[in-house]
Amino acid sequence: FIQNRIRNFSIIAHIDHGKSTLADRLIEKTGMLASREIKSQVLDNMELERERGITIKLKAVRLVYKAKDGNEYILNLIDTPGHVDFNYEVSRSLAACEGAVLVVDSTQGIEAQTLANVYLALEQDLEILPVINKIDLPSARPDEVKKEIEEIIGIDCENAPLISAKEGINIDDVLEDIIQNVPAPIGDPNAPLKALIFDSYYDSYKGVVCYIRVFEGVIKPGMIIRMVSTGKTFEVTEVGINTNRHIPFESLGAGEVGYVTASIKNVKEARVGDTITDDDNPTDEPLPGYKKVIPMVYCGIYPAEGEDFNSVREALEKLQVNDASFVFEPETSVALGFGFRCGFLGLLHMEITQERLEREFDLNIITTAPSVIYRVTKTSGEVLEIQNPTNLPDSSEISFIEEPIVSASIMTPTEYVGAIMELCQNKRGTFLNMEYLEEKRVVLHYDMPLNEVIYDFFDALKSKTRGYASLDYELKGYKESRLVKLDILINGELVDAFSLIVHEDKAYERGRRIAERLVDVIPRHQFAVPIQAAIGSKIIARETIRALRKDVLAKCYGGDISRKKKLLEKQKEGKKRMRQIGSVDVPNEAFLTVLKYD
Ligand code: GTP
Repeated sequence: FIQNRIRNFSIIAHIDHGKSTLADRLIEKTGMLASREIKSQVLDNMELERERGITIKLKAVRLVYKAKDGNEYILNLIDTPGHVDFNYEVSRSLAACEGAVLVVDSTQGIEAQTLANVYLALEQDLEILPVINKIDLPSARPDEVKKEIEEIIGIDCENAPLISAKEGINIDDVLEDIIQNVPAPIGDPNAPLKALIFDSYYDSYKGVVCYIRVFEGVIKPGMIIRMVSTGKTFEVTEVGINTNRHIPFESLGAGEVGYVTASIKNVKEARVGDTITDDDNPTDEPLPGYKKVIPMVYCGIYPAEGEDFNSVREALEKLQVNDASFVFEPETSVALGFGFRCGFLGLLHMEITQERLEREFDLNIITTAPSVIYRVTKTSGEVLEIQNPTNLPDSSEISFIEEPIVSASIMTPTEYVGAIMELCQNKRGTFLNMEYLEEKRVVLHYDMPLNEVIYDFFDALKSKTRGYASLDYELKGYKESRLVKLDILINGELVDAFSLIVHEDKAYERGRRIAERLVDVIPRHQFAVPIQAAIGSKIIARETIRALRKDVLAKCYGGDISRKKKLLEKQKEGKKRMRQIGSVDVPNEAFLTVLKYD
């Protein structure tokens, strides 16, 4: 195929503006799959993704389109994840493209992720093609939204297609727009191989499958390739393209998008953003922008009672083979025994991973409160990075503690500005400025401690603005802060799995809340159980679970035997999901209560 008949593009959008629906329509229109084969959203192919309506892993699909000029074109549609946790992956898949279709919901207009994605696309010098979606809805206001895009983003919308991805209206306009306005790739097929990995995943038959964009040279089976970042070499076993399945090709040349397999055993050896080159004739200029992503949020994952440490470890290992940004190492907790400290890109990444452990591996696990990485400078001058509150040194040894700060942009209709400012204030945000996007819409810029953002900030924002505000953030740096370790004691015993690092000003309220919650979830015992929150040796809150008066069976009045049995069984079942801490049974769900705060 001739290079100038190739178009490599992504679709970018704010969540729910219709990216996946449009992708389906494009696939359908180009006849790659019969409509009935499109299960609803081919590109998001993990079950979990579909349920949550988000795109986790990006993929590429090759479409063939017969344009109105009579020529056939190859369209490589590269899917991007839709969440701020995965921004690096988004940036790498955009780097594989020449253009981006920007889908904007005509009933909503521009939102935080619309802008964030546009900035990412502009950083990669992509041609941006605005598309106005959901024109079938009565509340659609396409003209206003076009004007908004022109004013805020500064791109011409005169010829922007007005579409309904759902109803399949004007989809051809999008395809023609792509042919005419996304530049064809350039790149010398005779130069040394230079290909970008923009996604990789583990397949139990083929090993790691890398999705690549070839920029220069050619890649084919039998070649020895080298990963530039690690220097490791592999022999290519297969190259090909992806439609709804893999189709092997003889080779992939400059400008093309496809997959490569090379008996690679772990995605860590084929990292997103890395350059693949020819070991015999390497490029002297690898592709820019490679970055090893580092986890921002950590939590402990422990087998629930009855679950086996080894099966949890095996599951984590399996997940890691497929997820280069997930890390874990063994740790022990006095309360929970042997488990793992796990690192994630963000809270969503953490939740997805937990769900996968429970669902795909059928495990019951206990998760401890998420923590960011704190930087602790000791009086001795030594600097520690702490991602488990338990490891915080004694306060007498600490000179100062720094915490990660993110720069957050919150886009909102003006009527919610007051509520948002109050919320951000509450979450220790530092107001930077407010920009008017148009008469009734603003962006608020705040510096916020990541520690506050990872809890319930996003939910609180949504509920205070009835879902109208949107959030985007990125790590800015570290800042000194008055932080303390908050401990929880049950029946006088410190439960390390409950320990948290919090801001001094919030410790009291947080401690009281957790104590109150625990009173609700921990069952009554034969004796009174005090629940205390403490900073060091200072108790800052105390609640008591009153002693149980009557025997459970007393309720049965000694009568009905089967009822008695049922009750006993129920009690036994309840026990199963308990952890014994000292002489107190603590239900597994108690560990979740520290996660939630309002
Ligand atoms: P993420 O994958 O979460 O980023 O969302 P997305 O941008 O891919 O959105 P998706 O395609 O999943 O669409 C979100 C919702 O909007 C779905 O319920 C779609 O059915 C609906 N939707 C998409 N396009 C249209 C449209 O043209 N008209 C109407 N009425 N609804 C649409």
